[in-house]
Amino acid sequence: MQITNYLYSFSYAKTESELCKLESKYIFNEEEKNKVLFSDVKAEPSSSAFIKKRLDIIFSSDDYAKLIAKIKKENLCVDGFKVEYLVLHGDTTEYAGRLDKLKDIGYSINGTPDYYKPTITYAVCCYEGLWFFGILVKNKFDWYKHKQKPFSYSNSININIAKALVNIAAKANKEKRLLDTCCGVGTILLEACFAGNNMEGCDINWKVCRQARQNLAHFNYTTNVYRSDIKDIRTRYDAAIIDLPYNLFSCADNDTIKHIIESTAEITDRLVIVSTSDIATFISNAGLTLSDHCSVSKSGKANFARRIWVCEKDSNRPQTESINRPGCLSEI
Ligand SMILES: C[S@@+](CC[C@H](N)C(=O)[O-])C[C@H]1O[C@@H](n2cnc3c(N)ncnc32)[C@H](O)[C@@H]1O
Repeated sequence: MQITNYLYSFSYAKTESELCKLESKYIFNEEEKNKVLFSDVKAEPSSSAFIKKRLDIIFSSDDYAKLIAKIKKENLCVDGFKVEYLVLHGDTTEYAGRLDKLKDIGYSINGTPDYYKPTITYAVCCYEGLWFFGILVKNKFDWYKHKQKPFSYSNSININIAKALVNIAAKANKEKRLLDTCCGVGTILLEACFAGNNMEGCDINWKVCRQARQNLAHFNYTTNVYRSDIKDIRTRYDAAIIDLPYNLFSCADNDTIKHIIESTAEITDRLVIVSTSDIATFISNAGLTLSDHCSVSKSGKANFARRIWVCEKDSNRPQTESINRPGCLSEI
């Protein structure tokens, strides 16, 4: 096993497993396995719905006694520390054994522990016969507060999917300029702003635009929400997310889907599209190549699934030189 700087642990429902793998592929360039991933990429657990913890590895050893010796030799001196045992796939250490190991480590660190308000949390874990010790960073799930946004509607996307879409679109690069083409009340924008991504929104419906702005303001986030048909947006973006309209309320006929995908493809080379139906033909007709695809079913609703399509501009097809289309951006 190649020892990296970070070890990540994951947690997700069975229905979300494909999405979690897709997200980890775009954040880390590899998929998680057994809900564990080793990487040199540093990601903030709270920017994903599926990353539970990150261990910033300090020491590792195939021999537990040697690991303890390394910790003692380091002469760590810190007040208010806490030690946790991270149980990973395949670790059969019983509860009592885990407690003993916590004591071993606690006694190897100088300073007073604080279990309730720790200044630093260390962790120990075992994976595939190797022992690891490091600093633990947890997903605080403080983004759950967005569930209490002032405005929500039946077409709003699930918050876990929203976070994954941002990560897939941004590819772990906060500098990328992103657009949420059909932003609705701003569910995806909230997650992008929370994680520090650079994303703007657009929606044809003035009422949801106003609500998206109010939702963003409620959490003190600032970004632009344009009340516009996507065909009138002229700015270029590094990537766009499209949560396609999918029922009568938001008008999901074939012409609308074609119009939204083709108009978005004119202002970006990379699209992450969410649909409830097969849109492969629309994707290829828009001159896009499908790089990845996955589906997320709704727990309890076996016949309703959201499909996520990651597409890139087909470089062999002639491109539109510059964006030269009429239109107006409105902040109404
Ligand atoms: C499924 S909803 C998006 C929901 C959004 N992700 C949320 O969580 O609130 C699709 C949205 O597409 C918008 N829409 C439809 N046609 C559009 C167009 N031509 N340009 C921009 N937005 C459009 C609709 O107004 C609707 O709000």
